[in-house]
Amino acid sequence: MDKNAITIALPKGRLMPDCVRVLSEVGLRAEEDLSTTRRLLVPSEDGSARFLIIRDKDLPTYVDYGAADMGIVGKDVLMESKRNILEPLDLGFGYCRIVVAQPAATLEPGATSGWGHTRVATKYPYIAQRHFASLGEQIEIIPLYGSIELAPLVGLADRIVDLVSTGETLRQNNLVEVQDVMEVTARLVVNRASMKIKADRLVPIIEAIREQLETRGHGDTRTRGK
Ligand code: PRP
Repeated sequence: MDKNAITIALPKGRLMPDCVRVLSEVGLRAEEDLSTTRRLLVPSEDGSARFLIIRDKDLPTYVDYGAADMGIVGKDVLMESKRNILEPLDLGFGYCRIVVAQPAATLEPGATSGWGHTRVATKYPYIAQRHFASLGEQIEIIPLYGSIELAPLVGLADRIVDLVSTGETLRQNNLVEVQDVMEVTARLVVNRASMKIKADRLVPIIEAIREQLETRGHGDTRTRGK
């Protein structure tokens, strides 16, 4: 492999097929199928790059420390990480939204809103805190790792801040959206130092992806996933 190979971090899971497509459109193809391999470090076919396969929440950390020169990650994970990394492109795919939701029953006329402060369950404590601070609302965050929709059903929280894609999870758990927090799509991210030191390698890749996005238009890029 080229000793000047660049390192590209990709998140395992739902975004991977679109990541592979975007990179292969600009000539970056892995030696193996990145969606199925158990290898965590996979060279590109031409040896000019290597791909790291990591958990999406870890991805901004790898890019911030320069262990990866660039990567692809959802805007939700990027914002929640608070990492100081460059975000040159919105790739358009992986569209979903972060919303505030609560049990439908609590919105019915006569429903009591309870006393004291509102408890909000979420896997996005920073994004949720920021959202309610911008509204001047005092809330208590209950940080959770998953199945957030369960929390208001069993009295752990009054509301949730979570991702919505099809809306099916909210519907099946009798929760309704009450506020929009943000829209989420996949972003290309780049380490600040790499952007200077390896500009000759990275800038052509960024520009090639940008051209592909412009040719394709953003209309057909809103696919399921996060
Ligand atoms: C995500 C999200 C919602 C669900 C939304 O959860 O947190 O629960 O998907 O999708 P929908 O609107 O299409 O129903 P995920 O599947 O990642 O599981 P988790 O809650 O355990 O994180």
